Amino acid sequence: MEKLIEVKNLKKHFYKKNFWGQNQGVTKAVDGVTFDINKGETFGLVGESGCGKSTLGRTLIRMYEPTSGKIMYEGEDIAAIKKNKLNKFHKKMQIIFQDPYSSLDPHLTVRDIIAEPISVYEKLSDTEIDLRIAELLKKVGLKSDDMNKYSYEFSGGQRQRIGIARALSVNPQFVLCDEPISALDVSIQAQVINVLEELQEELGLTYLFVAHDLNMVHHISEKIGVMYLGKIVEIGDSDDIYFNPKHPYTKALINAIPRIEQERVLKLDRDVIQGDIPSPLNVPKGCRFHPRCPYATERCRCEEPELRIDADGHQVACFEA
Ligand SMILES: Nc1ncnc2c1ncn2[C@@H]1O[C@H](COP(=O)(O)OP(=O)(O)OP(=O)(O)O)[C@@H](O)[C@H]1O
Ligand SMILES: [Mg+2]
Repeated sequence: MEKLIEVKNLKKHFYKKNFWGQNQGVTKAVDGVTFDINKGETFGLVGESGCGKSTLGRTLIRMYEPTSGKIMYEGEDIAAIKKNKLNKFHKKMQIIFQDPYSSLDPHLTVRDIIAEPISVYEKLSDTEIDLRIAELLKKVGLKSDDMNKYSYEFSGGQRQRIGIARALSVNPQFVLCDEPISALDVSIQAQVINVLEELQEELGLTYLFVAHDLNMVHHISEKIGVMYLGKIVEIGDSDDIYFNPKHPYTKALINAIPRIEQERVLKLDRDVIQGDIPSPLNVPKGCRFHPRCPYATERCRCEEPELRIDADGHQVACFEA
C-alpha cells in the first residue's frame, strides 16, 4: 500500500500568555504522534472530547503551525515549508467541518461559497467556475440550480453536501473530515456517509475521518487510530481495533458502545472507563492513561510506553497489553 502521509513525532502545543506576554502554562494538545495514512484509504481517528483530534487534523494540513515534528506528504516535509510556499499543499488538502450551520457564510450564495477556494488556488473564468460548480453539486446529490440559493435555504444534510462540494472544488487528494456528521440528524447521517464513500471511490480520495462514534468509524475506515490526551495509544486495521482491541483505553471505548447482539459483547468487565480525561495543561507522568487504568502497575506510573508494533501491524502503547 502506497503511503500518502507519514506523520513523525508531531507536536502542537498551545502557549497561554498573560497580558504582559509571560508564559502561563502550555496545553500539550498534540504531544508526539506518529502514524501513516495510505493513499485512497480512510484513517479513522477516535478518542474522547478534548484529546486533540481536531488539533492533530488541523496541524497535519498546516491550518495550525506545528510545534515540532514532520509531516511527510508524498515524501516532502510540509511541516518545514514556509507559510507563503504552502499553497500547492493547501490545494491538495481540504477540510470538511463539523457544523454545516456555522461553517457556511449565510451572506454568500452557494456558488460563491464553493467558488471561494477555486479563486484562491486556480485561475478559471466565471463560466468555467459555473460549470465546475454545477458538476460538483450533482456529484454531492444537489441540483445545479441550487448554486443561486443561500445556504440558510437548505437543511443540515444539504448544507453538509455544500460543505463537501466546497472541499472538493479544487480537486484535492486528501480531505480532513472533522466530525462531518455529528451535527446532523441520525436519519441524515448515513446519506452523508454514503456521499463521502461514493466520492472517495470515484475520485480516489484519502480521508482522515475524525469522530466519536466507533461504529461509524469502524464502518468507514480501513485503519483506526485511538487518541488519548495528545497521543495515539493504539493503531490497527479497523476490524482489529473493533474486535480485538489491546489497549485498556480502546477496550473501554469499545465496551461503551451500546450493542444489540449480546454475544458480541466483549468480556471486559473491568474495562469500564473511570473518571474524566485529565487536562492537557497537566499531563500525568508515566503512561498518561494510568490514573484511569484498572491494570496500571508501578512501571506505568513512572515510564511512558511507546507504540510498539506486532507482527500483524497492530500497534499499541501499553506495557501490559
Ligand atoms: N486554538 C487553541 N488554543 C488553545 N488551546 C486549544 C486550541 N485549540 C484546542 N485547544 C486545546 O487543545 C486540547 C485539544 O482540543 P481539540 O479541539 O483538538 O480536541 P478534540 O479531540 O477535537 O475534541 P472534540 O471531540 O470535543 O472536538 C483541548 O484542551 C483544547 O482546549
Ligand atoms: Mg474536535
